[in-house]
Amino acid sequence: MSGDARKTAAGLSYLTGFGNEHSSEAVPGALPEGRNSPQRAPLGLYAEQLSGTAFTEPRSHNRRSWLYRIRPSAAHPAFTRADNGTIRTAPFTETVPDPNRLRWNPLPEPPAGTDFLAGLWTLGGNGDATQRTGMAVHLYHANASMERVFSDADGELLIVPERGGLLLHTEFGRLAVEPAQVALIPRGVRFRAELLDESARGYVCENYGAPFQLPDLGPIGANGLANARDFQAPVAAYEDVTGPVEVVNKFCGNLWTATYGHSPLDVVAWHGNHVPYVYDLRRFNVIGTISYDHPDPSIFTVLTSPSDTPGLAGVDFVVFAPRWLVGEDTFRPPYFHRNVMSEYMGLIEGAYDAKAEGFVPGGGSLHNMMSAHGPDRETFDRASAAELKPQKVDDGLAFMFETRWPVTLTPHAAGADHLQRRYDDVWRGLERHFRG
Ligand SMILES: [Fe+2]
Repeated sequence: MSGDARKTAAGLSYLTGFGNEHSSEAVPGALPEGRNSPQRAPLGLYAEQLSGTAFTEPRSHNRRSWLYRIRPSAAHPAFTRADNGTIRTAPFTETVPDPNRLRWNPLPEPPAGTDFLAGLWTLGGNGDATQRTGMAVHLYHANASMERVFSDADGELLIVPERGGLLLHTEFGRLAVEPAQVALIPRGVRFRAELLDESARGYVCENYGAPFQLPDLGPIGANGLANARDFQAPVAAYEDVTGPVEVVNKFCGNLWTATYGHSPLDVVAWHGNHVPYVYDLRRFNVIGTISYDHPDPSIFTVLTSPSDTPGLAGVDFVVFAPRWLVGEDTFRPPYFHRNVMSEYMGLIEGAYDAKAEGFVPGGGSLHNMMSAHGPDRETFDRASAAELKPQKVDDGLAFMFETRWPVTLTPHAAGADHLQRRYDDVWRGLERHFRG
């Protein structure tokens, strides 16, 4: 943490728009014009393409960027294996998939000197990273800035801060992300996370599948939910540093390390659409009923990673943002349900309207495929008797990673001291009211 980082964060400017063909140069003239790979790139830079999708994927899905850098990424020594710490990767086979409803308190304090990477703690996940399917749920708790640089070949990283801001130094430039905002680091993009506060805590969805995109809007129309213009990409900024820099690469589930002779965050100019971005969840345009019943919570989808089956996401990122409830003759909290999709929920601030207690910021719950869940007794009783006048729900910000496959836990999540052992009691008091 440093005042300089705060000052840098406050002074950042961004390019706007989701999936745009952006371009940016930190030095005038660094970006070639009219072609991607001229015989000699401007200013003595190396041209390099970074492909986030196969060359031949449809234009609407294609993600790639061209980077103009001081040294090519190829100029590095061999990687050697590093300890994986508390990071695990799909396939998750160390525990048996658990049909129980599960809930955790926040991660405990980490040892001094824990950076974002060392502070990553995998809860579980699904799919197979080598097959580029599925996802992992991680939490992080860090109290030191990264000196090293990290990249993830296994998937993109959706970072959801809950406590403390991060200044993300990426190959494409710098992003500041605070609680109530999210940041996305695309697959393979190198970055380091500098703390903006004493410590940083939050959640990460590692998406092995197709890159997150905005959901289709169907009858909603041309606007609404997360609006494309509110996504912010960095402007080019580079480090011209010669000297040892540790670079950690996550590849097929393992961490590998190499000591470069320079900083790989040395991109002076770039253009493309495979870029990191930040989004402020408070910009989410919440759509809900103005008559009766709830739309399904898919109406709260911020980003979706599509699969080969239309409408079936590998993983959705969903936010429960402040909103008005006006439904008439309607049970207004989230309804009881069983779902073929599996739901990991976290809380960024405040409280969630289906749970009166026990679901706390920094904690999380897992309701796996077909597990029965819904409001707790206290919430049910209150909502069943409430006077149905217009009501603003604005005391919390919860989110969900909703995925098509069950989430299998890591052993350290299944056996964690901060796993709540009596979560089922939440529903124990729901009494028989039948008058048949
Ligand atoms: Fe649910």
